[in-house]
Amino acid sequence: MGRVRSYLIAGNWKMHTLRAEAVDLARRVAEHARSVPAVRVMVAPPFPWLLPVAEALAGSPVALGAQDVHWERKGAYTGAVSPEMLKDAGCEYVIVGHSERRQYFGETDETVFRKLQAAISVGLRPVLCVGETLDQRQAGWTLKVIRRQLWGALEGLTPPAAFTIAYEPVWAIGTGVPAHPEQAQEVHAFIRAEVARIWNASVGLHVLYGGSVTPDNVEGFLRAPDVDGALVGGASLKAEAFCTILDIAQNLSAGRSG
Ligand code: PGA
Repeated sequence: MGRVRSYLIAGNWKMHTLRAEAVDLARRVAEHARSVPAVRVMVAPPFPWLLPVAEALAGSPVALGAQDVHWERKGAYTGAVSPEMLKDAGCEYVIVGHSERRQYFGETDETVFRKLQAAISVGLRPVLCVGETLDQRQAGWTLKVIRRQLWGALEGLTPPAAFTIAYEPVWAIGTGVPAHPEQAQEVHAFIRAEVARIWNASVGLHVLYGGSVTPDNVEGFLRAPDVDGALVGGASLKAEAFCTILDIAQNLSAGRSG
């Protein structure tokens, strides 16, 4: 599996921000991103703010992402947003299969597969989220769960040149209790090996860690050899915290180049 050396730091704003806050946050991240040239940065605002945030990011190196997408191109799907609409709104990335979508909106490995296929077909870069619940971890099923999610989502997809997976243990999301970097490393290495088995092709793979990432703990994750960045929720809503995370990734980037 191809190794991607630059870090990707992505902010998942979830169902937060009103327009003025979203635009202000985007402007501040865009401004700061110029001082972290080695880091790839993405922010995923709520759907209604994609356009104003795209405008605020214009001319900056920050990529725009969406938090979800439908698998159909168009049609009678009230409330849904198509991959082409996201492209047209300026999105480069889309988060697919976040555990909150699986938990509250009935997302399954099958719908995740269809969304990935649809997103890739229009040239969007998906960020596939996988992760186990606390019960699953305590039962010793972590790798089994991750394996099932990966095969369900990826088997049968034409391998893209580049792909991003976020390992987000459900018990670490929004809880203030992050995984230990060693736990992340174990699962990240497993994800890499498993994706190589599924696709049997050379793919530039970013494997991000997500779940209670803050400026105080991000360094431990980024130092793990198979962690290629972070998917940040709560701390991405505060410009200062998110920009500090970017600075830390920039500082650690030198050690990863070459
Ligand atoms: P958190 O969320 O950083 O608030 O834990 C991460 C995520 O769900 O992507």
